[in-house]
Amino acid sequence: LLIDLEIQESTDRGARFLIEEAHDADVGQNSVQQYSLKKNENFVLVVNGNTVELVLDKELDREKQQEINLVLTALDGGSPQRSGTVVIHVNVLDANDNSPVFSQPVYKASLPENSPLDTVVVTVSATDADEGVNGDVSYDFGHVTDEVKQLFSINPKTGEIHVIGNVDYETTTSFEIRVKAKDGLGLSSHATLIISVTDVNDNSPVISLKSLSSPISEDTPSGTEVGIINVQDRDSERNRQVRCSLQQGVPFKLVPSIKNYYSLVTTEQLDRELVSDYNITITATDKGSPPLSSSKTVQLSVADINDNPPVFEEQSYSAYVTENNKPGSTLCSVTARDPDWRQNGTVIYSLLPGEVNGAPVSSYLSVNGDTGVIHAVRSFDYEQFRSFKVHVMARDNGSPPLSSNVTVSVFISDVNDNSPQILYPTPEGNSFMTELVPKAAHGGSLVSKVIAVDADSGQNAWLSYQIVKSTDPGLFTIGLHSGEIRTQRDISESDNMKQNLIVSVKDNGQPPLSATCAMYLLISDNLAEVPELKDISYDEKNSKLTSYLIIALVSVSTIFLTFMIIVMGVRFCRRRKPRLLFDGAVAIPSAYLPPNYADVDGTGTLRSTYNYDAYLTTGSRTSDFKFVSSYNDNTLPADETLKKTENNFPLRWG
Ligand SMILES: *[C@@H]1O[C@H](CO)[C@@H](O)[C@H](O)[C@H]1NC(C)=O
Ligand SMILES: *[C@@H]1O[C@H](CO)[C@@H](O)[C@H](O)[C@H]1NC(C)=O
Ligand SMILES: *[C@@H]1O[C@H](CO)[C@@H](O)[C@H](O)[C@H]1NC(C)=O
Repeated sequence: LLIDLEIQESTDRGARFLIEEAHDADVGQNSVQQYSLKKNENFVLVVNGNTVELVLDKELDREKQQEINLVLTALDGGSPQRSGTVVIHVNVLDANDNSPVFSQPVYKASLPENSPLDTVVVTVSATDADEGVNGDVSYDFGHVTDEVKQLFSINPKTGEIHVIGNVDYETTTSFEIRVKAKDGLGLSSHATLIISVTDVNDNSPVISLKSLSSPISEDTPSGTEVGIINVQDRDSERNRQVRCSLQQGVPFKLVPSIKNYYSLVTTEQLDRELVSDYNITITATDKGSPPLSSSKTVQLSVADINDNPPVFEEQSYSAYVTENNKPGSTLCSVTARDPDWRQNGTVIYSLLPGEVNGAPVSSYLSVNGDTGVIHAVRSFDYEQFRSFKVHVMARDNGSPPLSSNVTVSVFISDVNDNSPQILYPTPEGNSFMTELVPKAAHGGSLVSKVIAVDADSGQNAWLSYQIVKSTDPGLFTIGLHSGEIRTQRDISESDNMKQNLIVSVKDNGQPPLSATCAMYLLISDNLAEVPELKDISYDEKNSKLTSYLIIALVSVSTIFLTFMIIVMGVRFCRRRKPRLLFDGAVAIPSAYLPPNYADVDGTGTLRSTYNYDAYLTTGSRTSDFKFVSSYNDNTLPADETLKKTENNFPLRWG
């Protein structure tokens, strides 16, 4: 016999459930007299007359015991006592009396940053003891920040938590999320999910320039700090440990200072003239794996110091100029270079003060300050000096300025601007210079000599002599370059006593210059035979001057003859030497020399004027012309004509 009873588990204590009464066919004492319920936890039996009720004494819990079987026994009053038993099957109906329960109160998960979308971080799970809808658990986040909502989602059915955004360790290193589980009828519970984000090396080091002194002066000593840089890496641990390095080949290094700071320091003295700008590349690398690096280029320029003097392109300069140049003509130009910057490298030229031949150099030359072109200020005279030296200075415009100097040698070359100058016979035609030619002179005898000089040099002073006119063209000849006048043949009785020669002296310049002179020769053995000297006068045209000259000559000659006669008379008386006719010496005084016949040698000092002593001996065919020059050995000119001289003549006379 079975009685089914369904009771909601949430039924309150004291609830009564009526049980059908037992039936006994007997009556009276033999009918059902007593009920008993087998002892159980939840129910007690209450019998009230004919009604039998089960009273809930302790609440039911479906989750503990879903079905309860109660054994109810009915006893009658007969003897023997009879009993009947009925099983009351109590089916406990579910009520939503259980909340979902998480498997763990706290879930912990670790998630690398930058995990791809849909990565499952963790799965939470909760169970609900109830059944059906009451045990149907769904998941959700509790109260969470917007950030969490953007980054994570939870699957309501499975409890999987997915990544839906970019998780960045550098933004948030951990999340604490409330997770809620709810059953179908709304009972819920919570758990805590702690997600720790782990770092990934996803940030390159960042180099920042904190200070930089640019430009830096090129005289900055080695070891000077020129800048400060800072390096940051947003990652952590090894991923943020950074090493810094500089590119090779620059005179700089990085010196670590306090944390993450480095000093940029020079390792040698800089030279702007070699490198004026540096692009310094700094590279920072972290220790992550794989490592990340970044670089930064620092531009540094080097400022100039006036540390280079101007330097002339040549060790020395030479300028060649022909004499009689136009004042202002360009001689040469000098150039100096200075590699410094702007005014420190701007070169200005000037003449260093000095003297040439006693006059300041500025009266000879000028130099263009900007271009270095050197001009002659005056016309040069080779016969005054052949060369001179000046010093040109190149100075830069820095402060203080630097300078250097160079020697400019000016060499003046000769121009044939001087005619030959005849020293003997004097060009005035003075008949004192009359030469006696012995009647017995043989052909080839030296009769006289024309002496001439030319202030020029070289070819311009290379003289040649020619007889251009003579009384008897066949009688005398002149040495082309020696100027020696010799008889060409023996003198004969028929020859005219008075012989006049016009000699032309010509130099070898281009064009040649020449001078002429007259030579008076008297064929005679005895001065006493000399006729009226006025007849010797060669110039018929210049009669007036000639007649004055003749008068003067005659009077002087008369005195002279008188004197000579007295002298000879005295000599005759003393020595009786009749052959000696004329033993006088003709001296050419130094006054005959041109006044400016001076020279300037390489050192610019004036050489002493040559002194000439010429002795002319006439009247003897064996006697020769002697020319003696006294000069100072120290001032011997380095003249090529001298070297060619074979005899003892110091100068070439043609
Ligand atoms: C440095 O960099 C600048 C600009 O990037 C460039 O104009 C310059 O030529 C570079 N200088 C050197 C010395 O490389
Ligand atoms: C020239 O050099 C001086 C130092 O010698 C320096 O002070 C100056 O700035 C330089 N001038 C230029 C234009 O670089
Ligand atoms: C010229 O330069 C030389 C060396 O180059 C130096 O010894 C001399 O003193 C300089 N002269 C002047 C006047 O500056």
